[in-house]
Amino acid sequence: MKKLVILSGAGISAESGISTFRDSDGLWEKYPVMQVASIEGYEADPELVINFYNERRKQLLDVKPNQGHVLCAELEKYFDVTVVTQNVDNLHERAGSHKIIHLHGELTKVCSSYNPNNPRYIRELKPEEFEVKMGDKAGDGSQLRPFIVWFGEDVPRIGDAACEAEKADIFVIIGTSMNVYPAAGLLNYVSYNADVYLIDPKDVRINTDRKITHIKKGASEGMKELMRLIV
Ligand code: APR
Repeated sequence: MKKLVILSGAGISAESGISTFRDSDGLWEKYPVMQVASIEGYEADPELVINFYNERRKQLLDVKPNQGHVLCAELEKYFDVTVVTQNVDNLHERAGSHKIIHLHGELTKVCSSYNPNNPRYIRELKPEEFEVKMGDKAGDGSQLRPFIVWFGEDVPRIGDAACEAEKADIFVIIGTSMNVYPAAGLLNYVSYNADVYLIDPKDVRINTDRKITHIKKGASEGMKELMRLIV
């Protein structure tokens, strides 16, 4: 089976009702990004950050995967698929994708604030636990924090993602402005023998000289067109 790797961003969840970050009315227009999504912001005011992620986590109860996520899962019938996502929502999982690498963490998980990547203290919250409070402790006694990779923190899964990108026969970029590294740099690992597709209703500045087929549509319609092209 050919290997197909998908690099997804906030745009694939837009049609599910989850705001993107940099579109007009995006999340970073409403919130000061360094205050709610950086390690400095968390250290300065952990309660504000914990509550910001409580709101985003609870929103997961009101949204569901859209056709874009569903078709990413359906591609598993025809290809060996790995989804590398910058998204922290669980919509790829709920749509049925099996191999998913979350580069920026997962909203439904919490971890230790002493050592966020210690697997012993990373755990999945049940819906009834979606509201994390100051004073809630991880197994090492530290404050429980969202299992999110904030600006200023390492991206532990980037190595795994780069290995997948190197093996891709087809690389699909969907719903990301390719603004944030190291995620945006994954394209550099993709063989020049691979076919690269971009699904985005807008033009996306990608600094590369390689041929990219731009399907200038939203995620659902764009994934339908991609299926017609590659299946
Ligand atoms: N279908 C597909 N793409 C869409 C849609 C849609 N319906 N609506 C918007 N888009 C595109 C936008 O045109 C844009 O290119 O999705 C992209 C969203 O870009 P960003 O808001 O920058 O989101 P993303 O690229 O995922 O951000 C990367 O930045 O703030 C950090 O950690 C955060 O993971 C995030 C990272």
